[in-house]
Amino acid sequence: MNISRKVWISLICLFVFVGIAAAQYPAEKPSVESGKAIYKSKCVMCHGNIGSAIFEFNDHGSMVEKTSTDFYNAVTDGIMGTEMHAFTDLSESQRWDVVAYLWTFWLDEPRVEEGKTIFTNNCRCHGANGDGSGLSGAFDFTDLEVMVNKKPEGFIEIVSNGVPNTQMASWSSRLSDDEILNVVERVWTFQFSDYPPSPDTAEMATGTELMSPPESTEAPEAAASAPASQVPLGTGILFLTVTMAYLVARIRKS
Ligand code: HEC
Repeated sequence: MNISRKVWISLICLFVFVGIAAAQYPAEKPSVESGKAIYKSKCVMCHGNIGSAIFEFNDHGSMVEKTSTDFYNAVTDGIMGTEMHAFTDLSESQRWDVVAYLWTFWLDEPRVEEGKTIFTNNCRCHGANGDGSGLSGAFDFTDLEVMVNKKPEGFIEIVSNGVPNTQMASWSSRLSDDEILNVVERVWTFQFSDYPPSPDTAEMATGTELMSPPESTEAPEAAASAPASQVPLGTGILFLTVTMAYLVARIRKS
Protein backbone atom coordinates (compact mmCIF):
# COMPACT_ATOMS: atom_id res chain seq x y z
CA MET A 1 0.00 0.00 0.00
CA ASN A 2 2.68 2.35 1.15
CA ILE A 3 4.92 1.35 -1.74
CA SER A 4 2.23 1.82 -4.36
CA ARG A 5 1.57 5.36 -3.16
CA LYS A 6 5.30 6.07 -3.45
CA VAL A 7 5.26 4.66 -6.97
CA TRP A 8 2.50 7.04 -7.98
CA ILE A 9 4.10 10.07 -6.37
CA SER A 10 7.45 9.30 -8.02
CA LEU A 11 5.81 8.77 -11.39
CA ILE A 12 3.91 12.06 -11.17
CA CYS A 13 7.07 13.93 -10.11
CA LEU A 14 9.00 12.41 -12.98
CA PHE A 15 6.39 13.26 -15.58
CA VAL A 16 6.32 16.84 -14.30
CA PHE A 17 10.13 16.91 -14.47
CA VAL A 18 10.18 15.54 -18.01
CA GLY A 19 7.45 18.00 -18.99
CA ILE A 20 9.37 20.98 -17.61
CA ALA A 21 12.68 19.80 -19.09
CA ALA A 22 11.05 19.46 -22.51
CA ALA A 23 9.25 22.83 -22.44
CA GLN A 24 11.13 25.26 -24.63
CA TYR A 25 10.79 28.82 -25.75
CA PRO A 26 13.11 31.39 -27.35
CA ALA A 27 15.57 33.25 -25.11
CA GLU A 28 14.81 36.45 -27.02
CA LYS A 29 12.35 37.59 -29.66
CA PRO A 30 12.97 35.59 -32.87
CA SER A 31 13.85 37.45 -36.07
CA VAL A 32 11.83 36.81 -39.22
CA GLU A 33 14.65 38.28 -41.31
CA SER A 34 17.18 35.80 -39.96
CA GLY A 35 14.56 33.06 -40.35
CA LYS A 36 14.06 34.03 -43.95
CA ALA A 37 17.75 33.53 -44.79
CA ILE A 38 17.66 30.09 -43.13
CA TYR A 39 14.46 29.16 -44.95
CA LYS A 40 15.90 30.19 -48.32
CA SER A 41 18.96 28.00 -47.82
CA LYS A 42 17.46 24.95 -46.07
CA CYS A 43 13.70 24.72 -46.55
CA VAL A 44 12.63 26.37 -49.79
CA MET A 45 13.57 23.38 -51.99
CA CYS A 46 10.88 21.28 -50.32
CA HIS A 47 8.40 23.83 -48.95
CA GLY A 48 8.50 26.37 -51.80
CA ASN A 49 8.86 30.13 -52.09
CA ILE A 50 5.44 30.97 -50.69
CA GLY A 51 5.42 28.11 -48.19
CA SER A 52 2.64 26.29 -50.02
CA ALA A 53 4.39 22.97 -50.77
CA ILE A 54 3.85 19.85 -48.60
CA PHE A 55 2.31 21.77 -45.69
CA GLU A 56 0.34 24.92 -46.52
CA PHE A 57 2.04 27.52 -44.34
CA ASN A 58 0.12 30.10 -46.37
CA ASP A 59 -3.30 28.59 -45.68
CA HIS A 60 -5.40 30.35 -43.05
CA GLY A 61 -7.27 27.23 -41.92
CA SER A 62 -4.09 25.16 -41.50
CA MET A 63 -2.18 27.91 -39.68
CA VAL A 64 -4.72 29.19 -37.15
CA GLU A 65 -4.71 25.86 -35.35
CA LYS A 66 -0.91 25.60 -35.07
CA THR A 67 1.49 26.75 -32.38
CA SER A 68 5.13 27.79 -32.74
CA THR A 69 5.98 24.81 -30.54
CA ASP A 70 4.42 22.44 -33.13
CA PHE A 71 6.70 23.86 -35.81
CA TYR A 72 9.76 24.05 -33.57
CA ASN A 73 9.41 20.38 -32.65
CA ALA A 74 9.14 19.39 -36.33
CA VAL A 75 12.34 21.32 -37.13
CA THR A 76 14.15 20.03 -34.03
CA ASP A 77 13.16 16.36 -34.14
CA GLY A 78 12.16 15.91 -37.77
CA ILE A 79 9.09 13.86 -38.66
CA MET A 80 9.88 10.16 -38.56
CA GLY A 81 9.48 8.22 -41.76
CA THR A 82 9.35 11.36 -43.94
CA GLU A 83 11.87 13.56 -45.73
CA MET A 84 11.47 16.13 -42.96
CA HIS A 85 14.69 15.48 -41.05
CA ALA A 86 15.94 16.98 -37.78
CA PHE A 87 17.82 20.26 -38.37
CA THR A 88 20.59 19.62 -35.85
CA ASP A 89 22.89 22.00 -37.71
CA LEU A 90 20.69 24.94 -36.66
CA SER A 91 21.09 26.45 -33.19
CA GLU A 92 18.00 26.74 -30.99
CA SER A 93 17.66 30.44 -31.78
CA GLN A 94 18.03 29.77 -35.51
CA ARG A 95 15.24 27.20 -35.27
CA TRP A 96 12.98 29.75 -33.55
CA ASP A 97 13.90 32.29 -36.24
CA VAL A 98 12.88 29.98 -39.06
CA VAL A 99 9.64 29.17 -37.21
CA ALA A 100 8.98 32.93 -36.96
CA TYR A 101 9.48 33.17 -40.72
CA LEU A 102 6.98 30.32 -41.33
CA TRP A 103 4.29 32.54 -39.74
CA THR A 104 4.93 35.26 -42.34
CA PHE A 105 3.43 33.02 -45.05
CA TRP A 106 0.13 33.28 -43.16
CA LEU A 107 0.47 36.89 -42.00
CA ASP A 108 -0.71 39.45 -44.52
CA GLU A 109 1.14 42.76 -44.46
CA PRO A 110 -1.88 45.00 -45.30
CA ARG A 111 -3.90 43.22 -42.59
CA VAL A 112 -1.15 43.75 -40.03
CA GLU A 113 -1.01 47.44 -41.02
CA GLU A 114 -4.77 47.86 -40.58
CA GLY A 115 -4.54 45.87 -37.37
CA LYS A 116 -2.06 48.41 -36.00
CA THR A 117 -4.65 51.19 -36.19
CA ILE A 118 -7.35 48.99 -34.65
CA PHE A 119 -4.94 48.02 -31.86
CA THR A 120 -3.92 51.61 -31.12
CA ASN A 121 -7.53 52.78 -31.01
CA ASN A 122 -9.04 49.95 -28.97
CA CYS A 123 -6.48 47.85 -27.14
CA ARG A 124 -4.58 50.22 -24.86
CA CYS A 125 -4.94 47.83 -21.87
CA HIS A 126 -2.33 45.67 -23.59
CA GLY A 127 0.20 48.52 -23.78
CA ALA A 128 1.45 50.28 -26.91
CA ASN A 129 4.05 47.52 -27.44
CA GLY A 130 1.69 44.65 -26.66
CA ASP A 131 3.46 43.84 -23.41
CA GLY A 132 0.34 44.08 -21.26
CA SER A 133 1.57 47.25 -19.54
CA GLY A 134 -1.65 49.22 -19.97
CA LEU A 135 -3.64 47.43 -17.26
CA SER A 136 -2.52 45.06 -14.56
CA GLY A 137 -3.42 41.50 -15.59
CA ALA A 138 -3.77 42.31 -19.29
CA PHE A 139 -2.32 39.65 -21.61
CA ASP A 140 1.32 40.16 -22.64
CA PHE A 141 1.90 39.33 -26.33
CA THR A 142 5.66 39.52 -25.82
CA ASP A 143 5.74 36.74 -23.20
CA LEU A 144 7.48 34.18 -25.40
CA GLU A 145 7.07 31.29 -22.97
CA VAL A 146 3.30 31.70 -23.25
CA MET A 147 3.15 32.78 -26.89
CA VAL A 148 4.90 29.69 -28.29
CA ASN A 149 1.93 27.58 -27.19
CA LYS A 150 -0.81 29.90 -28.46
CA LYS A 151 -2.88 29.34 -31.60
CA PRO A 152 -4.17 32.26 -33.68
CA GLU A 153 -7.66 30.72 -33.56
CA GLY A 154 -7.62 31.07 -29.76
CA PHE A 155 -6.95 34.79 -30.09
CA ILE A 156 -9.69 35.19 -32.72
CA GLU A 157 -12.11 33.48 -30.33
CA ILE A 158 -11.12 35.66 -27.37
CA VAL A 159 -11.29 38.94 -29.28
CA SER A 160 -14.70 37.93 -30.63
CA ASN A 161 -16.24 36.66 -27.39
CA GLY A 162 -14.16 38.22 -24.62
CA VAL A 163 -13.02 36.49 -21.44
CA PRO A 164 -15.78 36.07 -18.83
CA ASN A 165 -15.25 37.82 -15.46
CA THR A 166 -12.38 39.95 -16.75
CA GLN A 167 -12.11 43.36 -18.35
CA MET A 168 -11.52 41.70 -21.73
CA ALA A 169 -14.80 42.43 -23.46
CA SER A 170 -16.35 40.83 -26.53
CA TRP A 171 -15.54 42.85 -29.65
CA SER A 172 -17.80 41.07 -32.13
CA SER A 173 -20.42 43.83 -32.01
CA ARG A 174 -17.80 46.57 -32.55
CA LEU A 175 -15.37 44.96 -35.02
CA SER A 176 -16.16 42.95 -38.15
CA ASP A 177 -14.68 39.45 -38.58
CA ASP A 178 -12.15 40.96 -40.98
CA GLU A 179 -11.14 43.63 -38.47
CA ILE A 180 -10.80 41.01 -35.74
CA LEU A 181 -8.47 38.99 -37.96
CA ASN A 182 -6.46 42.14 -38.76
CA VAL A 183 -5.90 42.95 -35.11
CA VAL A 184 -5.08 39.33 -34.26
CA GLU A 185 -2.46 39.30 -37.03
CA ARG A 186 -1.08 42.54 -35.63
CA VAL A 187 -0.76 41.18 -32.07
CA TRP A 188 0.84 37.98 -33.44
CA THR A 189 3.77 40.08 -34.70
CA PHE A 190 4.58 41.48 -31.21
CA GLN A 191 6.47 38.24 -30.46
CA PHE A 192 8.99 38.86 -33.26
CA SER A 193 11.90 41.31 -33.18
CA ASP A 194 11.17 42.40 -36.74
CA TYR A 195 8.26 42.28 -39.20
CA PRO A 196 7.70 42.30 -42.14
CA PRO A 197 10.62 40.48 -43.79
CA SER A 198 12.43 42.27 -46.60
CA PRO A 199 10.96 41.74 -50.07
CA ASP A 200 12.46 38.91 -52.17
CA THR A 201 15.31 39.83 -54.48
CA ALA A 202 16.58 38.11 -57.63
CA GLU A 203 19.95 37.25 -56.00
CA MET A 204 18.20 35.39 -53.25
CA ALA A 205 16.40 33.14 -55.70
CA THR A 206 19.71 32.28 -57.42
CA GLY A 207 21.39 31.74 -54.06
CA THR A 208 18.70 29.21 -53.23
CA GLU A 209 19.47 27.11 -56.27
CA LEU A 210 23.19 27.15 -55.55
CA MET A 211 22.66 26.10 -52.00
CA SER A 212 20.17 23.30 -52.43
CA PRO A 213 22.37 20.38 -53.62
CA PRO A 214 24.70 20.24 -50.57
CA GLU A 215 21.62 20.35 -48.36
CA SER A 216 20.23 17.06 -49.63
CA THR A 217 23.54 15.24 -49.08
CA GLU A 218 23.71 16.63 -45.54
CA ALA A 219 20.32 15.26 -44.59
CA PRO A 220 21.12 11.65 -43.52
CA GLU A 221 24.06 12.74 -41.34
CA ALA A 222 22.03 15.41 -39.61
CA ALA A 223 19.23 12.98 -38.88
CA ALA A 224 21.65 10.49 -37.32
CA SER A 225 23.14 12.75 -34.64
CA ALA A 226 21.08 13.51 -31.52
CA PRO A 227 19.65 17.04 -31.45
CA ALA A 228 21.02 19.07 -28.52
CA SER A 229 17.60 20.09 -27.29
CA GLN A 230 16.57 16.47 -26.85
CA VAL A 231 19.14 16.04 -24.09
CA PRO A 232 16.79 17.21 -21.28
CA LEU A 233 14.09 14.86 -22.51
CA GLY A 234 16.61 12.01 -22.75
CA THR A 235 17.80 12.72 -19.20
CA GLY A 236 14.19 12.67 -18.02
CA ILE A 237 13.59 9.28 -19.61
CA LEU A 238 16.82 7.95 -18.08
CA PHE A 239 15.68 9.14 -14.63
CA LEU A 240 12.32 7.53 -15.20
CA THR A 241 13.92 4.19 -16.12
CA VAL A 242 16.33 4.21 -13.16
CA THR A 243 13.57 5.14 -10.69
CA MET A 244 11.23 2.50 -12.07
CA ALA A 245 13.95 -0.14 -11.72
CA TYR A 246 14.59 0.97 -8.14
CA LEU A 247 10.91 0.88 -7.24
CA VAL A 248 10.38 -2.53 -8.81
CA ALA A 249 13.33 -3.81 -6.76
CA ARG A 250 11.76 -2.34 -3.59
CA ILE A 251 8.39 -3.92 -4.33
CA ARG A 252 10.01 -7.34 -4.95
CA LYS A 253 11.84 -7.12 -1.61
CA SER A 254 8.75 -6.27 0.45
C1 HEC B 1 13.86 17.29 -48.04
C2 HEC B 1 12.61 18.02 -47.98
C3 HEC B 1 12.36 18.92 -46.79
C4 HEC B 1 13.15 19.94 -46.32
C5 HEC B 1 14.51 20.38 -46.83
C6 HEC B 1 12.40 20.55 -45.24
N1 HEC B 1 11.23 19.91 -45.06
FE1 HEC B 1 9.83 20.39 -43.66
N2 HEC B 1 8.70 18.82 -44.26
C7 HEC B 1 9.01 17.96 -45.30
C8 HEC B 1 7.97 16.97 -45.39
C9 HEC B 1 7.91 15.84 -46.41
C10 HEC B 1 7.03 17.25 -44.38
C11 HEC B 1 5.74 16.52 -44.08
C12 HEC B 1 5.96 15.34 -43.20
C13 HEC B 1 4.64 14.64 -42.94
O1 HEC B 1 4.24 13.88 -43.80
O2 HEC B 1 4.05 14.92 -41.89
C14 HEC B 1 7.54 18.42 -43.68
C15 HEC B 1 6.91 18.98 -42.60
C16 HEC B 1 7.33 20.14 -41.97
C17 HEC B 1 6.67 20.75 -40.86
C18 HEC B 1 5.45 20.23 -40.15
C19 HEC B 1 4.19 20.93 -40.63
C20 HEC B 1 3.01 20.41 -39.84
O3 HEC B 1 2.70 20.99 -38.79
O4 HEC B 1 2.44 19.39 -40.27
C21 HEC B 1 7.37 21.87 -40.54
C22 HEC B 1 7.07 22.87 -39.45
C23 HEC B 1 8.47 21.95 -41.47
N3 HEC B 1 8.41 20.88 -42.31
C24 HEC B 1 9.39 22.97 -41.47
C25 HEC B 1 10.55 22.94 -42.21
C26 HEC B 1 11.61 23.91 -42.09
C27 HEC B 1 11.56 25.14 -41.21
C28 HEC B 1 12.60 23.52 -42.93
C29 HEC B 1 13.94 24.15 -43.11
C30 HEC B 1 14.74 24.40 -41.92
C31 HEC B 1 12.14 22.31 -43.59
N4 HEC B 1 10.90 21.99 -43.12
C32 HEC B 1 12.88 21.64 -44.53
C33 HEC B 1 10.10 18.04 -46.12
C34 HEC B 1 11.15 18.92 -45.96
